[in-house]
Order: sequence, then structure tokens, then C-alpha cells
Amino acid sequence: MDSIAEKKAVTFASVLRNNIYRDRDVLHALLPSTGLLHRTEQKNELVMELAPILMNSAVSCVFVYGNPGTGKTAVITQLMEELEAEAKRQKVKLIKAYVNCSENRTETTILIDILSQINPEKTYPRVGWTRAKAVSEFKKVSEELKTNVMVVLDEVDYALKESGDDILYRLSRINTKVNAKTSSNVSTILISNDVRVADYIKPKTQSTLGRVRVIFAPYAEEELRDILKDRAKSAFAKDAVSDPILQKIAEIEASRGGDARKALELLDSCAKAAIAKGRSKVTLDLVDEADRTLEKDTIFNIVATLTKHQKLLYLAMLKSSKKELDGGNVYKLYSEVCEKQNVSPLSIRRVRTFLVNFSELGIIKSEVTWLRSLRKKSRTITMDVDAATKKKLRKSIRDSI
Ligand SMILES: Nc1ncnc2c1ncn2[C@@H]1O[C@H](COP(=O)(O)OP(=O)(O)OP(=O)(O)O)[C@@H](O)[C@H]1O
Ligand SMILES: [Mg+2]
Repeated sequence: MDSIAEKKAVTFASVLRNNIYRDRDVLHALLPSTGLLHRTEQKNELVMELAPILMNSAVSCVFVYGNPGTGKTAVITQLMEELEAEAKRQKVKLIKAYVNCSENRTETTILIDILSQINPEKTYPRVGWTRAKAVSEFKKVSEELKTNVMVVLDEVDYALKESGDDILYRLSRINTKVNAKTSSNVSTILISNDVRVADYIKPKTQSTLGRVRVIFAPYAEEELRDILKDRAKSAFAKDAVSDPILQKIAEIEASRGGDARKALELLDSCAKAAIAKGRSKVTLDLVDEADRTLEKDTIFNIVATLTKHQKLLYLAMLKSSKKELDGGNVYKLYSEVCEKQNVSPLSIRRVRTFLVNFSELGIIKSEVTWLRSLRKKSRTITMDVDAATKKKLRKSIRDSI
């Protein structure tokens, strides 16, 4: 019976009609509506450290370490929301800024990102500012605002490796200036998955930073099982995914490094495998199969073989929310990404060649059309990648450049 079902053609309609997923997005949400599990200890520590902000005093710096997928970004994001809500209740002024430093690797682009969040009335240019200009604007704005500012620098190891620790020194010094009372209180949380992050920080800066460290250990098997079970309840139809499946995935991922992101991805991949076979349930044999397909997922393999600038170009396109991009647009996005990553962009001609390569590799669709109104030819680029895969691709590219 099964072999007949397996030969059935998969159509878009049949995939949409599947009775496995109820709400697939739940699997990829950073903060599930049911909350985060098994991180009470870390949350308690962080609440104790951050509470002084609500009494208008700055927290010098809190380090958060942990392997990939251990919930650092998720827990901090949730805590920031809680801190903001409490500040509102207590009528304490607080503005928060979150910067992903693997996407912003220089002091200038980090400061501009912070500025555009703490001072939203002003439109900051995404590229083109000198460091001196960004620094003086940051000083000016923090003096004017006279508020508590909570800055989260996520994946900070990328920025430290790329452009040194000036940014940390700058942020920590803001509070110790003579006119501290007339300026803002800036508190910083640094998130890193490289435990040796201290090696990238000069002793002079280290002495101005706090010594608080919060460690996110890899998840144990039971913890992963609970996380999977909690999401599976709302992501899948009743009875589509049974406990032994979740148990097996938890076992596999616990032995590999306790990464909750990977566990959720494997679960998603199992459901996809079941749909491809026209089944209405995930069965145990599919877990290994889904695990193998994850590894040979073609688009990830292709992207892994790209050169640094090709990766930067592809990253630029993945970051855009537009359905269709034109050639000129793409070059602008690429140059922006280069500036954020602290590398000089290649010429338009080179980038054009890359686009042709991408199209040959099948990772973009590119069409040249004649624009009658503008009397010129134009290249239209589309990407056939779903939102979850886009997010995953962005992360894997950022990790590899
Ligand atoms: N304790 C948890 N409860 C529920 N879901 C979790 C938990 N920890 C992590 N997750 C989920 O796992 C995924 C990865 O978590 P997160 O992005 O916070 O990891 P991270 O530690 O920041 O990883 P990286 O170092 O790669 O940035 C997210 O989808 C998150 O919602
Ligand atoms: Mg993270």
C-alpha cells in the first residue's frame, strides 16, 4: 500500500491540503505564545542584574554565553519586553536597542543602528557616515535624551573579531563621564556563542566592563523533548506527531550539542517528509530519513560553496523584503551589506556576473526584460525561498563569512 502512496505525484494543492500542519510558523517563532521553557535559572540571574535599571542606575555590562540554539536571543528578547513593560508601570524612562553584530560589524554601523532605534524621529543614513560623525551623534543624542538606554549587542563576537572592542569601551564610558548625571544611563548586554570572547577585549576595556556572566548550557534530552512537545501541540494536527517521534528527535539533537533550533528544524523536516509521501502522520522511520535530507538540502550546499562576495550578495538579497528586485537595487543592497561587514564592495560588473552564476545554479530566477517606458533593459530577480528557509540561510551565511 505504502509503495503506491509513495509514487503519488505531489502537487501544490496536495501539499496545501495536507492534514499534518496546523500552524507551521509556530515551529520557527522566536517567542512562542506558550513561553520559553527550562531557562528560569538564567532568567532569574538576568532579572537580578538588570533590576537596577528600574532604579535609574546603569548596569555596566552583562555577558551572556552559550552554544548556538540554546535560547540566548529568545530569552533576552523576552526579558527586554518584560523590562520595558515594568519600566512603563513604574514610570521609569527606558529605551531599548537591539543590534545583531554579525550583520553590523563596525563601530559606525552598530552606533547608527542603535541611534535609529533610540532616536526614531530622525532618519539615519544606512551607509556613508564616518566613525567620528556617528560617535559625536551618539554622544549628542544620549545627552539630549536623558533616559535609561538598554543596548543588546547580539552575536557580538563577530564585531569584536572584525573591528576590535572600541564599541564596548565607548558604551561603557558614556556612564562614567563627568557629566554622567546630565546624560543617559547606557546599560549593555553582550551575547556571544564564543566563550573566548574575552580574548578579543583589551585589558583597558575589560576593566571598565562588568564581570557578570550568565551561561546558557546546551539543552539536555528531556528539555529538548519538552520544547518540541510544547510547539508540536499547536504546530500540528492532533495525532499527526506522536511522543516517540519527539523523543527520538530530542535524543538525536541532545547527543549533537543540545541545540533547540536544530531540533525544531528536524521536526519540521519530518513533517515535510511525511507530506511528500502523502501520509497523514509522521512515523519513526521518517526521522532518520528527514535527518539525512536536512544534510543534503541543496540550496544550503550550494550557498556553502560560494565565495565571500557572492555570499554577501546573496545575503543582501535575502535581507530584502521585496518580492522582485532589479539589478540596480541589488547592487545598492550589496554595497550596504559590505559596509556593515567592513569590506569594500566589488564593481557592478562583477556583481552582474555573480547574478548570472546564481541564476545558473538555480538559487535565484533572473529575467531580462525591456522596459518600454524607460527605454532600457532591466534585470528582474526573484527568489523562490520561503520565510523560514530565508531566515536559516541568512544565519548560515552570516556564520560563514
Ligand atoms: N527554552 C526554550 N523554550 C522554547 N523554545 C526555545 C528555547 N530555547 C530556544 N528555543 C527556540 O530555539 C530557537 C533558537 O533559539 P535562539 O535563537 O534564542 O538561540 P541562540 O542561543 O540565540 O542561538 P545562536 O547562538 O545561534 O544565536 C528559537 O526558535 C527559539 O524560540
Ligand atoms: Mg542568537
